[in-house]
Amino acid sequence: MSTKPSPLGSFPRTRLRRNRRAVWARALVAEHRLAASDLIAPLFVIEGTNIAEDIASMPGVQRLSIDRAVQAAAEAKRLGIPAVALFPRIDDKLKGDDGAEALNPDNLICRAVRAIKAAQPDLGVICDVALDPYTSHGHDGLLHGGAILNDETIGVLCRQAVVQAQAGCDVIAPSDMMDGRVGAIRDALDRAGLTDVQILSYAAKYASAFYGPFRDAVGSKKLLAGDKKTYQMDPANSDEAIREVALDIAEGADMVMVKPGLPYLDIVRRVKETFAVPTFAYQVSGEYAMIVAAAERGWLERDRAILESLMAFKRAGADAMVTYFAFEAARLLQRP
Ligand code: PBG
Repeated sequence: MSTKPSPLGSFPRTRLRRNRRAVWARALVAEHRLAASDLIAPLFVIEGTNIAEDIASMPGVQRLSIDRAVQAAAEAKRLGIPAVALFPRIDDKLKGDDGAEALNPDNLICRAVRAIKAAQPDLGVICDVALDPYTSHGHDGLLHGGAILNDETIGVLCRQAVVQAQAGCDVIAPSDMMDGRVGAIRDALDRAGLTDVQILSYAAKYASAFYGPFRDAVGSKKLLAGDKKTYQMDPANSDEAIREVALDIAEGADMVMVKPGLPYLDIVRRVKETFAVPTFAYQVSGEYAMIVAAAERGWLERDRAILESLMAFKRAGADAMVTYFAFEAARLLQRP
């Protein structure tokens, strides 16, 4: 039996540990780098002044009144984080069947956008488009006879997108998973003269158990009737994610998101390789909670787990990550 030499070398002439021996060598051969400029910081916003309210299932994350959110935006800018993503926790009294408060040009989110853009014009502001923070049933769309109406919901989402963009939001991020909404929102924005407003589509969004703490944060958990499986994707599917992303790109999405993050890195990789478009990933609330809870028990080293999990996204092909660790990770990355 002849042993053909491998073009990649073989032991003992090749010893891969040589390049790992010294810090300087590891730095030179590192294939991926994590930077603050890869991070998007989610901010939960509430009414009031000078309020920072803890979220039980997300220790370390707080709901902020607009003035405090403006301070957080300044901190993001200082740390080199390019953008924040805003989520409202509105008063339950403002919630209704049809989520009409989403269309109020003076609602919490629109006031937050105006305040943050006035203070930090160079910081990107991203707003979710979906009805769940506004509906009394906690669903992302209009509910009728137990079903989520697709086309009727799109009409409302288009108006929500325009209202948010008119408030100064830079990036509209539909997270609702209705069919056809990206194209309709693009047309609505264009008709309103908002042709420069970008669309970040939550293109491949799965019906996931990892959103639990977020639903606490926006106050939709106890309201949610049933589950979101008729519009969010089945975790068993991967080809379907490719079809979702293809449609959203064709409809005018500027960037696409895969969500959740770490359990779906195979999807991030496939999307990036297939389409070569800006591909973001969302390290969701449950992923945050897992790391935080394990670190609290002393079972994980918090700092290392945070940076390793974020680097994993980069390695999989993500261009940027939405993460509740954004501020903490950006600070860790500043250390020499
Ligand atoms: C709702 C929305 C959700 C998240 C972002 N936008 C929750 C859901 O779909 O139920 C989840 C984010 C997270 O878990 O961190 N449109």
